[in-house]
Amino acid sequence: MIPEPANLKTRLGPLELRTPVIAASGTFGYGPEFENVTDIEYFGAVTLKAVSLEPRTGNPYPRMVETPSGMLNCIGLENPGVEVFIKEKIPAARKSGVPLIANLVGDKTRDYQELAAILESENDLAALEINASCPNVDHGSLSFAMDSNILGELVAAVREVTSKPLIAKLSPNVTDILPLAEAAVEFGADILNLSNTFLGMSISIDSRKSRLSRDYAGLSGQAIRPIALRIVHQVASKLDIPVIGTGGIYDTTDALEFLIAGARAISLGTVNFIHPNRARDICDGIQAYLSKNDLELTELTGSYLGPASCQA
Ligand SMILES: Cc1cc2nc3c(=O)[nH]c(=O)nc-3n(C[C@H](O)[C@H](O)[C@H](O)COP(=O)(O)O)c2cc1C
Repeated sequence: MIPEPANLKTRLGPLELRTPVIAASGTFGYGPEFENVTDIEYFGAVTLKAVSLEPRTGNPYPRMVETPSGMLNCIGLENPGVEVFIKEKIPAARKSGVPLIANLVGDKTRDYQELAAILESENDLAALEINASCPNVDHGSLSFAMDSNILGELVAAVREVTSKPLIAKLSPNVTDILPLAEAAVEFGADILNLSNTFLGMSISIDSRKSRLSRDYAGLSGQAIRPIALRIVHQVASKLDIPVIGTGGIYDTTDALEFLIAGARAISLGTVNFIHPNRARDICDGIQAYLSKNDLELTELTGSYLGPASCQA
């Protein structure tokens, strides 16, 4: 266990976490998958793999391909549906003792609302996260997170039926993130998670086909880190809402960059496949940095000092 008293507690609005390191949805299964390969208690929370009302088989294979400094995936939000999620996945995950966050997906606003209403009575869920990157079937391939009116409606609908801390996880695939972040805040999100994967593509020159079963897929890993960091700073420096920084975080330095840019917590995604015990390394690293610089975590958050300048 982390030595007490831990100085890594962080508050994200209504959600208090023991450490600022969260497992990102889809990269940590439902928790037990990582039982023997990680010190799970170093995570302040685990975001479970997405859940939808009905089971989803996901996209056909191949669904993952490595890229320089990252990976592309088009898993397609495969999951066993909310019934199995409640009966099997939550009870298994709760054994870790780490707060659990459900990641909600759907085709329509009312799918998310129905899901949130069903999950409201699940006492083992510390928070609900809206994965707003899903395509909205009423608007073609446009995802909920690409239009501030659609996103606002979605957040409001879920807010109406839940009293749990509500996280809106936004897509980075937009020209300007601010109007979307503002809409999520205005319509009731308590926390923003910035952000999901970037759309990318990979072509086999032999077949001249995609290396994946879709044309486009989600790019994650180190390649996206500077862009995700910029998005976190843009939002955290303008809006008064706690932000979780997500995108390409692999080590302590990366995590510190996001905290300095204004994130109150960070989440680890792709790195879990490579270094499943990174939460522990990063917690230790943040603690060491705080001690060395005589800082509290709250003082570090958002302490970015602006552009570098050359000394004459
Ligand atoms: C294999 C895989 C599956 C994912 N599944 C989900 C998911 O179910 N729900 C979700 O909101 N994000 C999902 N994501 C996105 C991650 O949670 C995270 O936002 C993204 O990968 C960026 O972080 P990273 O660069 O640290 O991986 C998935 C990512 C990967 C790589």
